Amino acid sequence: MKQLENTFKLACLVNGKRTELEIDSSRSLLDLIREDLGLKGTKEGCGEGECGACMVLVDGRAVNSCLMMAVQVHGKEMVTIEGIKGKDGGLHPLQKTFIAEGAVQCGFCTPGLIIASEALLRRNPKATLEEIKLELTGNLCRCTGYEKVLSAVEKARGKK
Ligand code: FES
Ligand code: FES
Repeated sequence: MKQLENTFKLACLVNGKRTELEIDSSRSLLDLIREDLGLKGTKEGCGEGECGACMVLVDGRAVNSCLMMAVQVHGKEMVTIEGIKGKDGGLHPLQKTFIAEGAVQCGFCTPGLIIASEALLRRNPKATLEEIKLELTGNLCRCTGYEKVLSAVEKARGKK
C-alpha cells in the first residue's frame, strides 16, 4: 500500500456510524465521501461550489463538499443522501414528495436538493415558498424547471 505523506487520522460520524480512517490531509471532503467511503449518492458537478450536487449535512448544515477539506469534518457528524431516511427507516418525507410531484428527472441534482431542503426544514419546519426558493438558489437543476421541486418541498413541510 502506498505510504501517504501527510496523513491525518480522521474520526467522525457518517450517517450515524462512527467512522475512523487515515487520509491524506489534502483530501477534499467530496473525494473522501465518494472514493474513500464509497458513498456515490453525493455527486460531483462543477467541483467549484456553483451547483450544489455535492451537498451533504455537516452538523446539520448543508455544505458543498467540493469546497471543504475532509479534515474539516473531524469530530463532526456528517449525513449524506444515503443517511436520509424516514422515521421507519423507509423513504424520507422529502423523498416521497419528490417522487409524488415528479421532481426528479435525470436525478443528478436530486441528492443535493434533498440535503439542502432537509437542512432548511430542520431549522425552519414552516418555511415559506420564498424561504424555500432562497435556500435552493445554490442548487442547479437543468431538467425540471424547479416548479415541481418547490412544490415537493412545500408538501414535505411538517411531515417529519
Ligand atoms: S460539485 Fe460541489 S458545488 Fe458543484
Ligand atoms: S433532474 Fe436533472 S439536473 Fe435536476
